[in-house]
Order: sequence, then C-alpha cells, then structure tokens
Amino acid sequence: MDMAVSSVRPLYIPPLSEDQAQSGTLILRDGTTATIRLAQPTDQTAMKAFVERLSPESRRHRFLLADTPPEDLIASLCDSSDPRSRLTLVVTRLLGGTLRIIATGAYLARDVTTAEVVMAVDDAFHGKGLGTLLLERLALLAIRNGFVRLWAVTHADNQAMREVFRESGFELRETRAGGEIQGGEMEVELSLLPTETSVARSEVRDRVATAASLRPFFCPRAVAVVGASRDPASIGYRIVEALVMNRYQGPVYPVNPKAAVIASIRAYPSVKAIPEPVDLAILSVPRDAVLDVVDECAAQGVQALLIITAGFAEVNAEGRTLQDQLVEKVRAYGMRLVGPNCMGLLNTDPKVRLNASFAPVFPPYGRVAMLSQSGAVGLAILRSSTYLNMGLSTFVSVGNKADVSSNDLLQYWEEDPATEVILLYLESFGNPRRFARIARRVSRRKPIVAVKGGRTQAGRRAAGSHTAALAENDAGVDALFHQTGIIRVGTLDEMFALARALGGQPIPSGRRVAILTNAGGPGILCADECEAGGLTVTELSEGTRRLLSGFLPAAASLKNPVDLIASAGPEHYRRAIETVLPAEEVDAAIIIYIPVDISNTEAIAQAIRDGVAGGRAAGAKAKPVLVCWMAEDGRERSLQVGDEQIPTYASPERAAQVLGKAATYGEWRIQPPGVVPDYLDMDFVRIRAACKEAARERGEGWLSVEEVRTVLTAAGLPVPPGGVARTPEEAVEVAGQVGFPVAVKLASRRIVHKTEIGGVRLNLADARAVTQGFAEIRDRVARENQLDAMEGVLVQPMFSEGVEVMVGVTQDPLFGPLMAFGLGGIHVEILRDVCFRVTPLTDRDAGEMVREIKGYRLLEGYRGHPPADVTAIEEVLLRLSRLVEEIHEITELDLNPVFALPPGQGCRIVDARIRVGAVTADSRNSK
Ligand code: COA
Repeated sequence: MDMAVSSVRPLYIPPLSEDQAQSGTLILRDGTTATIRLAQPTDQTAMKAFVERLSPESRRHRFLLADTPPEDLIASLCDSSDPRSRLTLVVTRLLGGTLRIIATGAYLARDVTTAEVVMAVDDAFHGKGLGTLLLERLALLAIRNGFVRLWAVTHADNQAMREVFRESGFELRETRAGGEIQGGEMEVELSLLPTETSVARSEVRDRVATAASLRPFFCPRAVAVVGASRDPASIGYRIVEALVMNRYQGPVYPVNPKAAVIASIRAYPSVKAIPEPVDLAILSVPRDAVLDVVDECAAQGVQALLIITAGFAEVNAEGRTLQDQLVEKVRAYGMRLVGPNCMGLLNTDPKVRLNASFAPVFPPYGRVAMLSQSGAVGLAILRSSTYLNMGLSTFVSVGNKADVSSNDLLQYWEEDPATEVILLYLESFGNPRRFARIARRVSRRKPIVAVKGGRTQAGRRAAGSHTAALAENDAGVDALFHQTGIIRVGTLDEMFALARALGGQPIPSGRRVAILTNAGGPGILCADECEAGGLTVTELSEGTRRLLSGFLPAAASLKNPVDLIASAGPEHYRRAIETVLPAEEVDAAIIIYIPVDISNTEAIAQAIRDGVAGGRAAGAKAKPVLVCWMAEDGRERSLQVGDEQIPTYASPERAAQVLGKAATYGEWRIQPPGVVPDYLDMDFVRIRAACKEAARERGEGWLSVEEVRTVLTAAGLPVPPGGVARTPEEAVEVAGQVGFPVAVKLASRRIVHKTEIGGVRLNLADARAVTQGFAEIRDRVARENQLDAMEGVLVQPMFSEGVEVMVGVTQDPLFGPLMAFGLGGIHVEILRDVCFRVTPLTDRDAGEMVREIKGYRLLEGYRGHPPADVTAIEEVLLRLSRLVEEIHEITELDLNPVFALPPGQGCRIVDARIRVGAVTADSRNSK
C-alpha cells in the first residue's frame, strides 16, 4: 500500500462522546454544575416559563420575539423526536425547590447539510460559559445527524453570542445579513469539522471548569462536619479533631442535633443554622440521613460535599439506587461530591492545612498529589509518607467515585501549581477513554505513577468485592498506561520510591548513568539492574577518568561503576560527584555508600550534598542524582540540598529500578505525541451498511468471506486479488485472472478451522489442479456433513516471500477495542510474542507496536531473509484502528496471516475474520 496515494490528515477527536453530548453534567465556569439533556414534550410548561423569564432584550436577540412566545414555537422547541430535522437541548438546575430550565439550545435543519442554531441562557446565568457548552454539544449532535454546518442569525451588537461562536474554535464565517433579514444583523456559518483549535479549546474549558469545581474541596473558606458525634471514638468526632489538631486555617462547624458542643467547639443543630457561609460539608451521618442533609447543605450554599458514609453502591442494589438518587440530587443542585464511602481528603498547603479525614496523620507539605481508591490503602499511604518525610500537596480518598472521578482530579492537579507528581492507587476506571485522553496530556507536564490493584485473578476477585470494581484485562491496563506515559509500578513501596525521585530530582533526559560506590559488590548489583531496566552504564570518557585519577587513590577503579574503595572519605565523595555529574557522557548518577566507619556517616552525607551542589553549579542542572544509603537503620530518607531533595534508597537495585523507570518516562515525554491519522479514502458508509446488513440478517456472528473482503477493501486495506468462487469453473476463471500458482481455500463463516478439515489447497499450478482442489475441498466438507456451510472457495495468489504477521482486535469490556500485533504462527501462539494497544492508535503507537515485539528483528531482515515493509504494516494497524473506532458493530477481528512483503511492496491480508454484533452502549459512551 502506498501512503502517497491515499490522502491522510490528522484526526481531531472531540473530548466528548456523542452520548455524553446529549445528557450528563455540565461544569460551568464558576465551578458549579448543571444537568443537560434532550428536551421532551413534557418540558413545554418549563420551556414557556423559561422564555417568559428572559429579559425582553434576550427574547428579541435569541428568538426574534417581542413578547409572549407562541405555543407552536414552544411545542417545536420541545420536540427532539427527529434529530435529522430538529433537536433541542435543555440545561436544568434545581432552584427554590423546582427544577428549572436555565438555558436551551436547538438546531433546525435548513437543508440536509446545514442547520440553523438558536440558543438562550437565563439572564441570571450569563457569563458562566453556558452558551459555549451548549454550542459544543449541539455541534456534535448535528454532525452525528449528518450536518456539516451550523448557521445562525444574530444581532451585530450581540457581542456575547458572537463571542460564543468565535470561542468554539470551529471555522467561522460572518457576513452582514442582507436581503430578507433586516439591517444590523449578522449571518454566521460554522463548519462543524473538529479542528485542532476547537478540540484544544474544548479541553481547556473542561479542565479549567473542573479545577474550579474542585477548589472548594481543597481550599474551603469554612467547613461543616455533619454527623459530628459526641463519641470521641466515632468517625465524625475524629474528623472534627483532625481538622482542629492539624490547625485548619478556617472555621470548623460541627453539626449535631443532639449536642451544643463537640470537641470543645460550639455545635449547630443543622447546617442551616450555621451563621456563616460554608464551602465544604463533610458528611458522616448514618446512610439514611444523607439525602436530607444534602438538601440542607444546598440551602446553605455549600458547594462541595465530602461523604464519608458507607453503605451505597459498594454493598448492594439498594445501596446503588440510593447512590444514584444522591448523585442526581447533588447534580441538580449544581454541587460536587467526593465519595461516598471514602476516607476524606487533605491539603497540606500551610495557608490551608486541611485534614478533612479521619486519618490521624498529617504528612509534610510537598509536591506530590495522591489519589487512592481504597480508604485503607490511603491511610497506609499517609502513614508512609509521614514516616518517609515525603511531602504531599493534596491527598484524596475517592471511595465510590460517584461524582468526582480520577479524571476530574487529574485535571485539577494538572492546573495545581503545588503539585508536580501525581500518584494513583486505582482499582477500576470509570471511563478509560476519557482517562486515556486526560492522562496522556497531563503526563506531558507532570509524571503520573500508578499502582493498579486487581492484577492477579485473586486480586481481581478481591477488587470486585471491595469497591464494586469490575475485573479488568491487564493487557488493556498495561497498554493504556504505556500509551499515556503513566509509570506503572507493582507495589506501593515502589510507588513511593519513584515519587521521591520524581518529586525531588529532575527527570532524566537520557539513559547514561554513572555509578559511584565505595564497595565493588553493590556497584555490580546496581550496574546489572540498571542494564536490566534499559539504562546504560558506559565507560567514562578519557577526560573524566583523568580528572578522577587526580584525587582518587591508585587502587580506585575509574571505569563505570567508579569504585572509590572502602577507604573513601568525604572529600573523595564530594570531588568525585563534582567531577562525574557535569561530564558530558553522563545523564544521571547513582551514589552508593556503605558505612565502613560509622563516625564518618554524617560527613559523607554532607559531602554528597556538597558534591551535588558543586555539580549543579558546574552546569549539571537537569541530571538526577539518587543515593543508595546502605546505612545501619536501613531507613529511606532524603538529603536536602537547597530546594532539592536527593532521595536515598536502602538497596542499589531499588535506586537502579527507579532511575530506569524515570528515564523511560523522560524519553516518552520528549517524543512528539503523535497524531491519529484519518484516511480520507475509507468508505465508512459502505462498511457500516455491510456490517449492519449482516447483523440484521443473521444476528451476532462472523461475516462471510465476501463480506469480509468488502469491508477490508472499503477500509483501504491490502486485500489480495482473487475472490470467492461457487463452482469449479468459477474457481478456474478467478485463478486465471489472479495468475498461477494459486491458493484455494474453503470459504465459510461457520467452519472456523479450515486447515484442520482439509479446506486449504496451496500452490495449484494450473486449471486442472484448481478443479481438483475444489472437488477435494467439497468432499472433505461433505464428509463432515457441513456442505450447507460452504460458501464456495476463496481463490488467491500464492505468496512465497514476505514475513507472516498477525493483527487482531478484541473488545475489552472496559477499554473498548484492544489491538494486538505479532508475528504469525508459533510466535503468537506459543511464544506469546505479541503486543497490545488500546485504540485510537496514533502514528507513534503504531510505530512502537511493530518495534516492541521480539520478532521485530525478523522484520528488519535476518540471515538472508529480506526485510519487511514496516511502513505498510503500520498503515494496516492505523487503518484498522480507525475502522473499529468508527464502526462500533465490529466486535472482533483477526487478520492472520498478513504477508509483509519487502519494503515498498506493501503487505497482503491472506486470511481475515470479522465478527459483528449489535451495538450496545460501551465504554466509548460511558460518562
Ligand atoms: N444531621 C446531623 N447529625 C446527625 C444527623 C443529621 N441528620 N443524623 C444523625 N446525626 C448525628 C448523630 O446524632 C450522631 O451523633 P451522636 O453520636 O452525638 O448522637 C452522629 O451523627 C453519628 O450518627 P450515628 O448514628 O452514631 O452513626 P455512626 O457513627 O454509628 O455511623 C457513619 C455513621 C457515617 C460512621 C457510618 O454510617 C458509616 O458509614 N461508617 C462507615 C464509614 C466508612 O467506612 N467509610 C469509608 C472509609 S474508607
């Protein structure tokens, strides 16, 4: 396949899925939320009230109406039954006990490709970005329904509306209206094709609004603890105590109907009785009181709810129903909710000092943010970080993630200047696609380290019963983390080890490491582990060695590892670090110290500090230094040098592992992110029709050989010439067109294992052989009593050269399409030399996939075998990714084998299977 002949452009994928566009939560610019959904006929009264509430000016601007709206206009605005002709979205909020429409936006077809757009926002909600959010969603829904353009008439002086159009980032044309439209009006035309700008703007809006909506959790002006019990052993009491003992910098209001004082603080009988505004309410009331307390909080203007109470979705169906009601209520009020079933959250910023949890520890202030899906793990984390003196910026136990999710918090930390490293303890993903998108972006700025619980079968079962988390495919998680630059670690210990390096040291910009040690053995262990982790321990340059030899004893080894020998004193350490760190051939350093003379220990620690400071002064600013401190107490700590923390580890292997992962991350980060290519020759209309037709006729199942050829051909994939023949004569005719020798194979969607039943005849050199081959295959099928399953035979050319590869797609219940690539035959089946990625694939992902398998050397050419057309393989991967992303009916797909021919000659799909099923709402559309 030739890249040049097919027109390719980057695909800009809007962050919202189509389903999210028509229902869900909007986060407004002020951080409050509102609900969006399609308008229904039952909305007529509310719609009329909404239009009447608009100021006369708004009514004239939006609907070109002077007074009361006519009934038919209201009725048509509440009819979304035929989205190809019209559709209306309404935004609602619970105000004064009634659910009110606060904004609406509609499109109305002008012709098959252009729709007129109108929208209006309640005067009290202007300036909160609602118009932009509505337009973004209307645009997505309009595209889905076949429109390519939106058109609007607006008053030239209606700056707000014109700004909404400009802000969208869509290609825009404004013209002063003439003709039938009276003066002072503008016609606006928006092209709906997502652009780099429209997608980037939409992402920024989401991020900024999400961060604003979470600020009241982390920086509340005042906090109420509802359910602050009189019992000092209770959770409620301990939360009040944690707030006060850790010196929260705002007022704390305990709420308890039965007590006037809790923990020596005046208590209030209800939230409503609190005399001052409260931003954050922490709920530790019994489960059945939660919904009523939420009402009280809303009435008091609380924006953030932290619900500790358990007994919701994690326990049973009744709990899930209650949780659904809770979320609905919280969203209707425009508030946000962390939990339920969580341990709380912390912000160590000295200006805030918020311990909104029942954790008895308060870690030091630092640069690491942490999310835990398990309260108990969270507690362990807080203890460890305090013990290790590892500073945290913020900590959140997310519990059931009923509203605030990992995705929201990632966006908060992306914006948070106090956070430089993000740690995640995850058991499940709410919406992995959104997670992938956000994490990929955040990782470029701040490293994310994640432990994913539920890795083993036993672990998964435990995860399932623990937080109602779903079991997930580990290949999918690995792929997702890899593609998003997330550093995956196996244990919490390793997570902390990494966090201390990433939070305290620069990210390595290369893989060359210098090891300094005062003992040979640990140096060797460290070097081995470095190499195993992909680091290089190369010899130091002549110049560096000469400098070292100037002050080190003659017995010292100047190779790498540099062995300073047991007699090394503080001065040797200091000067060796000062020499090696700035060396051009060094990207990072590991310094190993084994106390030979305990009385020297402090002096050595100081020498390391001074050596690093000296190295930095000599220009080695961006090179990380890790210390292996094999000291008596075995305790891991950090050495402070100015602003910098040098992490110390108890074993040389640990330091090496940490540096290896940090270097892999550093490499990921500096490479360009890659683009998802869009191939303009892919005929999705034809493909969709073929898949839908098959699914309608036969239900869920495999496509016939002919249908497969249709789909692959329409997707621009390299299908070899030939075709399906129903009779021996037809087979001979096709063989004649293809050119001898040919392969003749049983064509059947029902009989899967063709070779096993003798359904494949290769290297047929002439018409006689083809006729005979046809007969033999038919006989074999007849013997199996399966003649009715035979569609004919597939006649193909024979391929004698090239490397056999396989590409497959399966549906992960959570991640959506998961792609696999490997060499064909035993490589995949026995050696499991296969690599996975989640879609959509970028060009970078495709390049990595091909190179990641061990068999890549075969594709590069090996012992007389010519190399393979790797570019063509990459294109197959990218086209397949587009195919399964676009055509949700495809549930499984196998191209096996694909013959990769020599460079420039492309590849050929020799065998393929495609399974289609009914489209269900999958992870692509979950919230
Ligand atoms: N408003 C204010 N206070 C209320 C109230 C309301 N509507 N209803 C009850 N209260 C008060 C009670 O009077 C009581 O105070 P008191 O002891 O001084 O009388 C206090 O709230 C607690 O109520 P109580 O009935 O004693 O509940 P509890 O302490 O046994 O349990 C929870 C409350 C939240 C701790 C419990 O329901 C729970 O969910 N526990 C598990 C929490 C958990 O594990 N979370 C996940 C961690 S990872």
